[in-house]
Amino acid sequence: MRDELAEILAEYGGEKGALIPILQRIQEKFGYLPEEAISEIAKFSRMAESEIFGVASFYAQFYFTRRGQHTVKVCLGTACHVRGGERILDEVKRELGVESGGTTKDYKLSLERVACFGSCALAPVMVIDKNVYGRMTIAKAKDILDEYRRG
Ligand code: FES
Repeated sequence: MRDELAEILAEYGGEKGALIPILQRIQEKFGYLPEEAISEIAKFSRMAESEIFGVASFYAQFYFTRRGQHTVKVCLGTACHVRGGERILDEVKRELGVESGGTTKDYKLSLERVACFGSCALAPVMVIDKNVYGRMTIAKAKDILDEYRRG
């Protein structure tokens, strides 16, 4: 991991204000921001680790624990809620054995709940990575999850 971090940091050598792009590159590479990365960035940019952590925590896009290969998002916005989004989420939690924000033990899938994807006509909606699955039912959700678990 060290060499990969050094490589990424070298790309930003001397650039001021590059913290966010550095964090983005590291997350792209590892899928999250490992502790070791935070301390390497701290040395590189002469910032306190707590300061970097503070900046990264401000943005919902950054994760501090290893994520699954795929991210399952279940919508609980108004339209989806009214059409049973909560039941879909409960089923997905049960199937994966994780709570919202959690990741399966095999690191295949992470689960999140969100408030509206802007596809309300398709409610209830589940999104995996960039694929939107509409008019979700418990049976459909189970089949779709199986595809990703096998893949
Ligand atoms: S409320 Fe779920 S997509 Fe809008």
